[in-house]
Amino acid sequence: LSRSTYLPVLASSGGSTKTRRLHDAVVDDIRRGRLRSGERLPGSRTLAQRLGLARTTVVDVVDELVAEGWLTSVAGAGVYVCRDLPEPPPLSTVPPRPGVDVEPVVLRRRVDPADDAAHDILPMGGGIPDLRQLPTTTLARALRTALQRQPHQLLGYGDPKGEQVLRQALARMLRQRRGVAATVDDVVVTRGAQQALYLLGQVLLRPGDRVGVECLGYPPAWDAFNTAGAELVPLPVDDDGLVVDALDDVTDGGRRPLRAVYTTPHHQFPTLVTLSAARRLRLLAWARRHRVAIIEDDYDHELHFEGQPTRPLLASDDAGVVVYVGSMSKAFAPALRQGFVVGPRAVLDAVAQLRQVVDRQGDRVGERAMAELLDEGDVHRHLRKMTQLFRHRRHLLLELLQQELADDVEVRAARGGMTVWAHLHRRPRRRAVQDLIDIAAAEGVRVTAASSLHVKGADLPFLRIGFAAVDDEEIRRGVWRLRQAVDRWRSAAGSTR
Ligand SMILES: Cc1ncc(COP(=O)(O)O)c(C=O)c1O
Repeated sequence: LSRSTYLPVLASSGGSTKTRRLHDAVVDDIRRGRLRSGERLPGSRTLAQRLGLARTTVVDVVDELVAEGWLTSVAGAGVYVCRDLPEPPPLSTVPPRPGVDVEPVVLRRRVDPADDAAHDILPMGGGIPDLRQLPTTTLARALRTALQRQPHQLLGYGDPKGEQVLRQALARMLRQRRGVAATVDDVVVTRGAQQALYLLGQVLLRPGDRVGVECLGYPPAWDAFNTAGAELVPLPVDDDGLVVDALDDVTDGGRRPLRAVYTTPHHQFPTLVTLSAARRLRLLAWARRHRVAIIEDDYDHELHFEGQPTRPLLASDDAGVVVYVGSMSKAFAPALRQGFVVGPRAVLDAVAQLRQVVDRQGDRVGERAMAELLDEGDVHRHLRKMTQLFRHRRHLLLELLQQELADDVEVRAARGGMTVWAHLHRRPRRRAVQDLIDIAAAEGVRVTAASSLHVKGADLPFLRIGFAAVDDEEIRRGVWRLRQAVDRWRSAAGSTR
């Protein structure tokens, strides 16, 4: 509390004297928590000046409050709120309970990574990049350059579709690296893929619509579709990705047709398998025939270790059914909140219109900076480095899992991504995989259970183990901690295959 911030809230009415009103106002502020124990009051001269009172009035009131035990005066240091007030005031004067009805927002549970960091839990639960590797000096330079170039324009309202230069840079990336013939007009920038998924849920789905989702799959996308009032229809996934033939089962038989299918064809989330060529063609033909939107989430396109990344479905869509979602969270940094949507103009227009309602526009300075990082090749230099590093880390993780846990898990390494997918053998009777996750967290390593990625929470014997956010030493520690956790998990009697 600085000298200039505290002013007693003086009641404006009542016939009491100025002294009484000031006295009561300070007591009330202490009781309500506006002034807290140990906080220093401004000097009597400042208070008197700012309240338009005589200084003697202020001094009289302070003396009285000191005598009553509300304030203490420390010679040469000032006047403070007493530390040992009999009844500590409540922390906040905001009523804890609402006096109005509130629609609850119930989301699928997500682990809070900040919490894990505070407890020294190694982040091996998922696809977080290693933020320690980010070229932060280059990022800082790009942010400064962006701001300095057109400071006055850039700090005003901008295009809800995103900064033109970033849309151009993303369109170029799509043409040169992903085989999609996009132009600036085909791209809308969003705050991360998550905002894109939310907006698409709102513009493509109506309450009660059915949306097909891969199961196992990505719960934050399901939350976005649920928020639009849609019903999730789980679709199976096998070694070739989404089982496209299952679409006919869920569509036929007099049931309401699907309105959209959400899929991660390149690196299926979370198994990381790639949708086969035959299924791609069938999916596109099916969507065209039934006029169903395909929401294609290509969240980590460049993180591919073997061969060329597969071209997006969008690249083969000539019927305007695919809406493509990208993200810079894995390619660069999640906190920049930069994602994008590519698709038919009418969809992009609707997305941009709705975006104005929830967010008006993106972060113009951040978008300009990302455009520069893309144009100057910094993002791709970083990605090349990360691809090398992650390939090495994946190899190390696989080796250590083989050494330490070969009897317990069988691991499938995909051609890219930031995680491996592990099948758990010999699950102990009456013990859920989630128990293992909790024990592992207690041992100091975070891994993810398949149940948290299943639409109905089914307890399947699979784990998602990440390698991207941890260095060699941490991978060693992580596997060792997982080994301990599995032992403790197994220490329950009996086991089943
Ligand atoms: C399947 C999937 N889609 C999208 C994203 C990226 O989300 P965002 O861009 O909102 O950070 C992720 C990141 O975890 C993901 O796993």
